[in-house]
Amino acid sequence: MHSWCWKRLLCASLLLSLLLWCLLLLAGDVQKKWPVAGRFRLAPRGRLPARPRLGAVQGVDFASLFAGPRAGPRCARGQVLLILVTSAPGNVEARHVIRRTWAAQEGRPANQWQTVFLVGQAANAEVAQRMQRERQEFGDILVGNYKDTYRNLTLKVMHGLKWASEQCQPYYILKTDDDCFVNTDRLPTFLAELNTVRTGLYVGSLFSREKRQVIREPSSKWYVSRQDYRPDEYPPYASGIGYVLSLDAAEKILEAAQRVRPIPVEDAYVGILAEEAGVRAKASARFAKHNVRWRVCNYRYLMVIHHLSPREQEAARRSMLEARSACRDSLEVTRWK
Ligand SMILES: *[C@@H]1O[C@H](CO)[C@@H](O)[C@H](O)[C@H]1NC(C)=O
Repeated sequence: MHSWCWKRLLCASLLLSLLLWCLLLLAGDVQKKWPVAGRFRLAPRGRLPARPRLGAVQGVDFASLFAGPRAGPRCARGQVLLILVTSAPGNVEARHVIRRTWAAQEGRPANQWQTVFLVGQAANAEVAQRMQRERQEFGDILVGNYKDTYRNLTLKVMHGLKWASEQCQPYYILKTDDDCFVNTDRLPTFLAELNTVRTGLYVGSLFSREKRQVIREPSSKWYVSRQDYRPDEYPPYASGIGYVLSLDAAEKILEAAQRVRPIPVEDAYVGILAEEAGVRAKASARFAKHNVRWRVCNYRYLMVIHHLSPREQEAARRSMLEARSACRDSLEVTRWK
C-alpha cells in the first residue's frame, strides 16, 4: 500500500475515535441528568437485566450502608467489649432507659466496654431530626444509610459489625436489642478473665431444630423465599436477643457476607454466615429469651435477658448490683454452659 493511503487511514481512524469519545462523554452526561434514561439504556425494555456473573457481588454491599465519615460515634480501640444495640429511630425512651440502667458506667471500669445504638434512616422527618439531636447530645448512635424497617434489620447488623471491626476492633462484640437487659457488671469481666474461648467465639441462645425451619409463608414477618435461601432449615444459630462474637469470628462472618445473599432474618443470616466461615455456634444458658422472675442470684451468671419494659430494666439493674455481694455461698459459674 502507498504511504498516502496509510496516512488517510490513520486520519480517518483518528477522527472516528474522536467522534466516539465525544459520543461517550455525551452519553455519560445524559445518564447523570436523567438516571432513568440511563437505566433504560443499560437494560433495554423487553430484555432481562444481565444476571450477575460468576464471582460478581451478590452478598451485602457494605459501602452502601455507611452514611458518611463522621456518622459514627467515637470508640476507643481495643476495648474488651463493644455492645451493639439494634434500635428504631423512634425508640427514644428505650435508649434513655438503657443509658441510665445497664449502659451506665461508674468511674473507669477495669475492663473497658462501650454501648452503641444502631439505627437507620427514619421515614418521618420530625423523628429523623429528633434522632440527629439525640445523636449529637449522647454520641452513642451509629446511623446507617438504609431505611429503618424490620426487614432491613440484617443490613443494620451487618453495618454495625463492619463499623465495629474496622473502627473499634474490640476483643468481643455483643449484638443485642433495645428491649434486652445486659449484665454489664459481669460480662466484660467474664470475657476478660474467665472465658477460655478467645477465638472463633459465637455464643448465645441457640434455637432447637424445629424452630430452625425456614418460614415460607409470605405474610410472615420472617418470610424467606426459596430464591433467597434454598434449604428448608437454617443451620444452628443464636437468637438475635444477644450473641457474643470474638473479633476474628466477626471478621470471618463479614467476609462471608460479601458472598452470601442476605435474608431478612438477621440472626439466621449470621448463623448461615458462621457456618459458611467455619465458625461453630455455641449454646449458653447465660442468654435468656424470656423474662421470667429471675432472682438476684441468677444475675451472677445471666448475661442477657430478653423482653424488658423500662420499669423492668430499672429492677434488673438493681438486682445486678445486689448480686455483687449477695449469694456468696453459691459457686461462681466460670463457663458458658
Ligand atoms: C432497605 O433499605 C434500602 C435502602 O434505604 C431501601 O431501598 C429498601 O427499600 C429497604 N428494604 C426494606 C425491605 O425495607
